Amino acid sequence: KRIVVLISGSGSNMQALIDAIELGAINGQIVGVISNKPDVQGLARAAHANIPSVVIDHRQFDGREPFEAELSKTIDEFKPDLIVLAGFMRILNSEFVQPYEGKMLNIHPSLLPKYKGLHTHRRALENGDKEHGVSVHFVTAELDGGPVIAQRTVKVEDSDTEQILQQKVQRQEHQLYPEVVARFCNDRLSYQNGKAYLDGKP
Ligand code: GRF
Repeated sequence: KRIVVLISGSGSNMQALIDAIELGAINGQIVGVISNKPDVQGLARAAHANIPSVVIDHRQFDGREPFEAELSKTIDEFKPDLIVLAGFMRILNSEFVQPYEGKMLNIHPSLLPKYKGLHTHRRALENGDKEHGVSVHFVTAELDGGPVIAQRTVKVEDSDTEQILQQKVQRQEHQLYPEVVARFCNDRLSYQNGKAYLDGKP
């Protein structure tokens, strides 16, 4: 399967996918990386892995639509079977997302539907949650609202800082995302009438 990865920053989730592909754990290849920000570590990671990358700087477009038009044009040129948002920090309009429904994934650092949006670790700590975690979901027009495919939980300790909690969650992210992408590439994960089906089970 042809995979395109969208990033905005460090690209550690993309790196986890690159490593899993290297190990033969994913029946796919990352054919392109797109970043909405220049000079981020994720671009260096892509270069190191000899993966073509494109920067589409949202600040150079006057408005969301022109940016998203350029983004979808660039995505489509790679002819992907799967689009993976990995630390991609732009909100995407329904017109953009609609053609990709069922083949676009996102990873979000919370146990959805809890804590959609930003600062999830801080919010979990402020609420005194004993458990926190990460979710991988299909992308729909609703921000962090698409059908959840899989989750991993982490224990929250009283001594945890936001930083510690984020590190715990990221360790789980780097295991979960490759597992989910691997199942998609083996046709064991699908999207039917708004639901995620893993091994045929919703
Ligand atoms: C991660 O916490 C991920 O859950 C969120 O963005 C953060 C950075 O991801 N989507 P990455 O290191 O750029 O992959």
